[in-house]
Amino acid sequence: MRILGIETSCDETAVAIYDESKGLLSNLVSSQMTVHQPYGGVVPELASRDHQRKICLLLDQALQTAQLDWADIDAIAFTEGPGLLGALLVGAATAQALAYSLKIPAIPIHHLEGHLLAPLLEDQHPTFPFVGLLVSGGHTLLMEVKNIGQYTLLGESLDDAAGEAFDKVAKLMGLPMPGGPAVAKLAEQGNPKRFEFPRPLLHQPNCDFSFSGLKTHVRNLYQKLQPTDAQTKADIAIAFELAVVDCLVTKAKRALSLCGVKHLVIAGGVSANQRLRQVLTTQLTEIGAKVFYAKPALCVDNAAMIAYAGLYRYRAGQYASLAVAPKARWPLIDVLPI
Ligand code: KG4
Ligand code: ZN
Repeated sequence: MRILGIETSCDETAVAIYDESKGLLSNLVSSQMTVHQPYGGVVPELASRDHQRKICLLLDQALQTAQLDWADIDAIAFTEGPGLLGALLVGAATAQALAYSLKIPAIPIHHLEGHLLAPLLEDQHPTFPFVGLLVSGGHTLLMEVKNIGQYTLLGESLDDAAGEAFDKVAKLMGLPMPGGPAVAKLAEQGNPKRFEFPRPLLHQPNCDFSFSGLKTHVRNLYQKLQPTDAQTKADIAIAFELAVVDCLVTKAKRALSLCGVKHLVIAGGVSANQRLRQVLTTQLTEIGAKVFYAKPALCVDNAAMIAYAGLYRYRAGQYASLAVAPKARWPLIDVLPI
């Protein structure tokens, strides 16, 4: 059984092939960073056009890398949402046209379910039930995951997503896109004792987050200090990163205790953050729990996670109809159980 996955929800065009017995046979990602960099953020129309330019090339390359032919592919999984509608349309239309012509099923996948299941691709993987902390550029959610497709929302960000906060802070500080890795790199040189940032909602007895105040805090501090030296910038970066990590870790621990489970999965772009991984590893060990995550390349947007989620939905017979109808908005709790 081999599933080809296609991901085009935002600014990465990605194609991967997952073999049920051999694992990942190819995993290609083409970033649009240079396309959007001059605008300081993703421009939806440019994203769609760039996906269109690259998708066929990547499909050919994925087959070549895996040394396969179209006849060796059993199903095509694609990101049906959420994301930028025009960008999603390119992937959905390509996947459904291919599936139709090859007479194989097309499998619609929720982008966040892909992220959530990516850590299951690793040798060290969690068992159900677990708590999932999804931290990406567009979402920050804590979910109880009883099984694939059985998700209960425990809490979420009331304003900016964690990745969005990293990106906005990076922009304020004049750092390149994507903001998260740039802020994290700068923070490595920072003095953690110089600034103490607020921890929004930390002591409220829920699993919700709020990150927009942290971004405002950075903006105000910048206006006050007008820093030109690298050390002050690094000190601000580490204070911001520590505040975000503290909020994520505290609420993740609360979610584990609420659900009475010991396995936490972190997924999405921000789960590549080394400090988040370190602090979680230390603090969860102290309470007899364990954190699981994917390798950095599988934390950010990729098609391996879409192909992998596609395998479960294929086995459940959850195929796409002929209508090409991607969803820009689609709450994760609305996906079908398996
Ligand atoms: O999951 P993802 O690739 O795309 C979305 O579905 O949104 O996540 C991208 C987000 C960006 O905001 C990026 O700045 C952030 O993940 N990110 C990080 C790191 N690597 C990526 N944030 C903090 N530290 C990192 N190392
Ligand atoms: Zn994503």
